[in-house]
Amino acid sequence: MTPTDTQLEFTSEVKAATQPIYERLREVIPEVEWPIHAPLIARINELKAERNAALVVHNYQVPEIFHGVADYTGDSLGMAQFGADTDAEVIVVCGVRFMAETAKILSPEKTVLLPDMAAGCSLAASITGADVRALKQEHPGVPVVTYVNTYADVRAEADICCTSANAVKVVESLGTDKVIFIPDEYLGKYVASQTDVEVILWKGACEVHERFTGDELRTYRQSHPGIEIIAHPECPPDVLNEADFVGSTSGMIQHVADRRPADVVLVTECSMSDNVAVEFPDVNFVRPCNLCPHMKRISLPKILRALETLEPAVDVDPETASKAKLSLDRMLAVGRASSSS
Ligand code: 13P
Ligand code: SF4
Repeated sequence: MTPTDTQLEFTSEVKAATQPIYERLREVIPEVEWPIHAPLIARINELKAERNAALVVHNYQVPEIFHGVADYTGDSLGMAQFGADTDAEVIVVCGVRFMAETAKILSPEKTVLLPDMAAGCSLAASITGADVRALKQEHPGVPVVTYVNTYADVRAEADICCTSANAVKVVESLGTDKVIFIPDEYLGKYVASQTDVEVILWKGACEVHERFTGDELRTYRQSHPGIEIIAHPECPPDVLNEADFVGSTSGMIQHVADRRPADVVLVTECSMSDNVAVEFPDVNFVRPCNLCPHMKRISLPKILRALETLEPAVDVDPETASKAKLSLDRMLAVGRASSSS
């Protein structure tokens, strides 16, 4: 038996320490599952303090991570801002690899852990630094805006990064009449619909959001008259045309908080509805379930293992990192759009 195993019992102390967390999660986690999660949550929270570690958690993580162990929860932009500002010596990124690379590039002196290094992203996998160099040759002098859902070699070739929370603002900040926008074709089309700047696109897509259709949303309108449809801009144009609001994951949550609709559908990865429903018991969440297999690689046992061993740690080649940091710093200087729709 390993030291960890001996600590993972659902003792009366663990039950008492985690009961307030469970009371919030009762509607989304069956009681029979709590004895599995609770000892992990209790131990992770102890180890975080011992390691001076901060857990930075994306909105798509499962509720036991999102509500059980996070120091920060939010969208890609918020995670980047928190990672840059925190005094913690260790950052555990509960998200995917491009998010962990962001944290490492902004804080090279810190240990940045990603509990499962195979947590990728179909957008990040769709383009390389060599592809960006070829695009720049094809369109000389046109600035490159890269969605932050890319790896360091791509960001190193770009002029500025953006996230879904600030893409329009970033594109307009450049003051040019044309930009190359990589790699999300649908986000790029959405940006083009919101600005006069001409947008040269790349054919990347998010494997989760590209599966939604406008027809699917119209059936929700029929079954739930008056439903508020809130969509992520990685969705195809026919989905965004059907939506009442378009925004980053945190923008979507803020919209629910502001509007408190009776019925709502969050057209995005499906764990987010569970996480948000906990905060808004008066709102009925219609829940289509498109899972991100990369986000779902992160689990409580893997987070615990990462804190125990301080592995796997993310590393980015220093030369690439310093070029990529310029693109990230320029984005952080632009900030979040005042309205994310
Ligand atoms: P945001 O949380 O930044 O909106 O990004 C969504 C996403 O798909 C991240 O992988
Ligand atoms: Fe990438 Fe889409 Fe998963 Fe986000 S939800 S990590 S964009 S594949």
